[in-house]
Amino acid sequence: MDEHKQEEGTKSNGGDQFSKSGFIFAAIGSAVGLGNMWKFPYITGKYGGAAFFLMFIICLLAVGLPVLMAELAIGKGGRGSVSTSFNRLTRQKGWGALGFLMILAPFLILSFYSVVAGWTMYYAVQSFTGRLFNSADYSAQFGSFIGSWQPVWWQLLAMVLTAAVIIKGVSGGIEKFNKILIPGLVILLLALVVRALTLDGAGEGVSFFLRPDFSKLSAESALVALGHAFFSLSLGMGTMITYGAYVDKRQSLGAATMAIGLGDLLYAFLAGLIIFPTSFAYGIEPSQGAGLVFVALPAAFAAMPFGSLFGGLFFVLLAFAALTSTVGLLEVPVAFVREKFNWSRSLSVVVVTLLVFLVGIPSAISVGGAVGGLQFGDKTFFDWMDFICSNILLPLGGLIVTIFVGWVWKNAAEAAGLKSAWFNVWLFMVRYIAPILVVLVLLYSAGALDFLFKG
Ligand code: PHE
Repeated sequence: MDEHKQEEGTKSNGGDQFSKSGFIFAAIGSAVGLGNMWKFPYITGKYGGAAFFLMFIICLLAVGLPVLMAELAIGKGGRGSVSTSFNRLTRQKGWGALGFLMILAPFLILSFYSVVAGWTMYYAVQSFTGRLFNSADYSAQFGSFIGSWQPVWWQLLAMVLTAAVIIKGVSGGIEKFNKILIPGLVILLLALVVRALTLDGAGEGVSFFLRPDFSKLSAESALVALGHAFFSLSLGMGTMITYGAYVDKRQSLGAATMAIGLGDLLYAFLAGLIIFPTSFAYGIEPSQGAGLVFVALPAAFAAMPFGSLFGGLFFVLLAFAALTSTVGLLEVPVAFVREKFNWSRSLSVVVVTLLVFLVGIPSAISVGGAVGGLQFGDKTFFDWMDFICSNILLPLGGLIVTIFVGWVWKNAAEAAGLKSAWFNVWLFMVRYIAPILVVLVLLYSAGALDFLFKG
């Protein structure tokens, strides 16, 4: 029965799958993204430095990696797009529909993530050409850029590049792209770490980043660490299920999971060694999000010898990290549409890309406010998309995965290829620990636990 299912699945993808190393590259590419650079260092500095880092590692080990492996196993066992994989692995009704939720999430995330990917490319060009440094008011520069229609065109460029990769398929497109970009990413990262650590005053930044302050550890910081572990490993959004469907049948998921987790962690750590020394050396308040990357850091690059070069390289690094993630996001709805409507890969890619682009336009023009003024309540359209996806859809997706693998699907061990002792540890985590913690994150993100954290 299983054998039959596997053949059927492989056939529906024309036998196009990852090589063993190609899969690791692609999965690390998906995990390593904007989140590692503009969120991780900041929350680490804010919530206790090395103490928080330790907690993040615990969250990664106790929840992130088990859920990552669960997603990969669903893909490997089901060998189809997210909802097909669920449907193939159980006779229970309704799982395919729940899986659909995990197709919607990456679609929506991509619509605003690609906007930011566009910004990074624009900033790379501005920095290399030196135009970024013509005026020292970086906040005004950023404001006038995002307040114009330009971000729409840069988002389109990000989507076209992503589509151009996906259209070539799994081994010829996604795998090749990641195999070129990831080594590039590592070289850029190391060059920038060396640059940052050799700046005068870098030590202070390193110590802010890593000085352990256990007094800052709290239930809240644990939930922040857990939420970030999820986002950072690209969980709850179908990406890892979809990539899992393309793994070689002999691939060991245990080893792959460790490699992906380690790669993501290492990148996040090195990102911190760029952000904090650079900020502190130039007296910049380290913050998170767009403000850090597009407003604060340009001031540091401006003051640095060869700043336009290092700034340009930094934005290229971000663009690489973003594009290897957008590729993973786009493949999720594309795989679904292909199966559902029996369309060719090219047609599916073109249609989905166009839809993502259209849905992304309000995000692209809402951040600046000048064009759209798309403000609802206390958030812009962009912020709402981010909030709904990262804080609600993503933990919900994680919950669906843990319940499915922990309680519904009986042959998980076989797909994961785990020996019994490890399998039992994994199953325990996926059954009990992960769902409880994920529900807590969900409640926390929705503001339902605010009363616990007052005062
Ligand atoms: N993990 C990516 C990051 O850290 C974000 C992402 C989430 C990418 C889900 C793909 C899927 O930025």
